[in-house]
Amino acid sequence: MGGDVLRADSFLAEILGRPAYSLDWPQGADTAQRIAAALRGLPGQHFVYAKTSPEHCAHLHILEELGFRLTDTTVRLRKELDPGARQPLDARVRPARPADSEAVAAIAASSFRFSRFHLDPRIPRAQADLIKARWAGNFFKGLRGDSMLVAEQAGEVAGFNLILFAAGGAAIVDLIAVAPKHQRRGLGRALLRATETARDGLKAIKLGTQLANLQSLAFYQSEGFQLVSAEHVLHHHGADAP
Ligand SMILES: CC(C)(COP(=O)(O)OP(=O)(O)OC[C@H]1O[C@@H](n2cnc3c(N)ncnc32)[C@H](O)[C@@H]1OP(=O)(O)O)[C@@H](O)C(=O)NCCC(=O)NCCS
Repeated sequence: MGGDVLRADSFLAEILGRPAYSLDWPQGADTAQRIAAALRGLPGQHFVYAKTSPEHCAHLHILEELGFRLTDTTVRLRKELDPGARQPLDARVRPARPADSEAVAAIAASSFRFSRFHLDPRIPRAQADLIKARWAGNFFKGLRGDSMLVAEQAGEVAGFNLILFAAGGAAIVDLIAVAPKHQRRGLGRALLRATETARDGLKAIKLGTQLANLQSLAFYQSEGFQLVSAEHVLHHHGADAP
């Protein structure tokens, strides 16, 4: 369905309870017509998301005319690592163990407020929380991420940092959170700093956050991360979607 324009997203479909797709921007002419045709082929209850560069305002306008709504602007940051300046690991941080699975999922379900799912008024809070819980939980099933660090506070798992390894010696912070009751005690900073210990020879750390998440942006910048790019994220809900 959707030809070469829509790519099925089974992870989101299962949680949202309706067919879900990402949009691959069609190359060449008749872009708007091809996206419109792909949307017409979908059932009334559907969810489609698209990402566009802020410099391509015309793309944003095409999507808006087709019923997509801007929900988030993702901001991407990067920090180059100096192998000679590695900081000692905070004693509260350690690699995740299988027994941490439930605690990590519970933290993921209760911490996020600014993800594109949490910002979208048409996605119920419980579903947005579940997306984060399953995302983090998938690490323990071997379905997402290459490494996970957790932070402990008062004998319990209080935060986690899910990491992917990318080409060129970069680590990507895929998902990071500290349980609300343990925030503002330096655990987030300790988890972020520990990213460089996840694998030998890392040259850079990359991560993304939401423009609305100003606290995280200030936090990452205070750790030496530099803004490298941004992209708008738009959601399209079928007319019959809840
Ligand atoms: C971002 C997050 C992981 C930080 O964890 P934390 O343990 O509270 O962080 P720290 O105590 O180490 O504080 C790090 C910095 O974050 C910023 N910060 C965190 N919470 C803040 C708040 N409520 N108000 C303002 N700044 C805040 C501050 O710059 C802080 O540094 P400071 O205490 O020296 O001023 C945590 O707030 C969180 O889990 N948020 C929800 C999930 C999320 O948004 N994750 C990031 C998505 S990209």
